[in-house]
Amino acid sequence: MTEAWRPGDDDERSRRGARGSVKVRVPAKVNLRLAVGPLRPDGYHEISTVYHAIGLYDELTARRADTLTLTMDGEGTGELALDDSNLVLRAARALATHARVPAHARLHLRKAIPLAGGLAGGSADAAAALVACDELWGIGLSRDELAVLAADLGSDVPFLLHGGTAVGTGRGESVSPVLARPTTWHWVVAVADGGLSTPQVYAELDRLRAAGAAPPPVGPADELLTALRQRDPQVLAGALGNDLQPAALSLRPALTKVLDAGVAAGALAGLVSGSGPTCVFLTPDAGTAQAVAQALEAADVCRAVHLANGAVVGARLV
Ligand code: C5P
Repeated sequence: MTEAWRPGDDDERSRRGARGSVKVRVPAKVNLRLAVGPLRPDGYHEISTVYHAIGLYDELTARRADTLTLTMDGEGTGELALDDSNLVLRAARALATHARVPAHARLHLRKAIPLAGGLAGGSADAAAALVACDELWGIGLSRDELAVLAADLGSDVPFLLHGGTAVGTGRGESVSPVLARPTTWHWVVAVADGGLSTPQVYAELDRLRAAGAAPPPVGPADELLTALRQRDPQVLAGALGNDLQPAALSLRPALTKVLDAGVAAGALAGLVSGSGPTCVFLTPDAGTAQAVAQALEAADVCRAVHLANGAVVGARLV
């Protein structure tokens, strides 16, 4: 059990490694496979997914201070609320309450992951805040202990503490790593103009299903897990699937053009990431990824294009 904080504890914490300033890097995620089940009484859908962390990163710096503040630059500056509704501040407060320390830190977020893009950027930032504040305050919780706090903050937050490739069940918060020999997968990420609301995309899927207008569900992840073990991008491309994709396309029909453009340019497959509207493309190698990225830029079908390899580790001190 964690003891209550007392003023003299700061000395002890600095002996245990509390620092004046720490920086954490955290990746975006894509869902290689996302099977959505029925709506649960708590408002979430039961899901079975294969998460995959890709090398598109946000960075969170935490410094000692005598209040809790958050500033930012990069993606979404001026759009993202920096008040107590922000997941970074909620994460810092949740950790402080758990460890019974004052929630004092000057936090700065440098964002490259687009807002409301289906890449779990907000969840990534919450994971980064847990890791950064744990270190800044010298608390020393394990990843598994942080994951308990993470699950309360959002369904994707526990995965972003771990990274790599992992199966997510429940509402996504229950995570177990996929054991496969490390392989580098080459992705191209097409960022759309404007975001999509995750609850709205789930609701649209429910609507399509009720109307009998949704395609058959993608089914369990076994085929995808087998494909990962084969380490062949062509095989993996054939196993990708996302039940939320038809719902995202229904809300944003122009995404079809993005998916078509990437595949026409040489991608093995294109996929809406999570609830979208970001589209990701699996390519056979780095050279093809570069060519697909250039073709997507030239086709003028998206706001920005990134190259990103997977799988990468989750939120880590740098
Ligand atoms: O967990 P998180 O806060 O990221 O979820 C945002 C919203 O997405 C939920 O309020 C819910 O509407 C929807 N959601 C869902 N089923 C999930 C995960 C999210 O319906 N498994």
